[in-house]
Amino acid sequence: MKISLTVNSERLETDVWGGESLMYALRERLGLPGSKNACEQGECGSCSVLLDGTLVCSCLVLAAQADGHEVVTVEGLAQGGRLHAVQEAFVAAGAVQCGFCTPGLVVATADLLDRNASPSEDEVREALSGNLCRCTGYQKIFDAVRLAAQA
Ligand code: FES
Ligand code: FES
Repeated sequence: MKISLTVNSERLETDVWGGESLMYALRERLGLPGSKNACEQGECGSCSVLLDGTLVCSCLVLAAQADGHEVVTVEGLAQGGRLHAVQEAFVAAGAVQCGFCTPGLVVATADLLDRNASPSEDEVREALSGNLCRCTGYQKIFDAVRLAAQA
């Protein structure tokens, strides 16, 4: 089936199989590999994107469900060749090791700070509780969120 959706402000069309995930369509059909495939079960958050402004695991959304809707991926956060403040903060705080979790964490953090510019420690932990990182121990990620909030 053919679907038509807006991804990072660009109208795109692609053919998908009925059971195919949005994550697969983004990565394999639309040339957007930023959303990572770590578990494909909604457990890790590495595939996080915004669907009509709501944070979702793109591995749990059918590509067909995104037909006619708007998606923002990690590739859509940088503007005019400049990294998003959250991306800059992750670099500055040293919150990236293997980087597999980073795109999902960046999207989830940008979403949190859009909704709550000055989150408490508990609010940060709650907002990022669906994003797993096996490398950093999380402290530098929380440092990055604080840096981004200050920015
Ligand atoms: S790949 Fe989607 S939640 Fe892990
Ligand atoms: S930096 Fe490796 S999983 Fe987070």
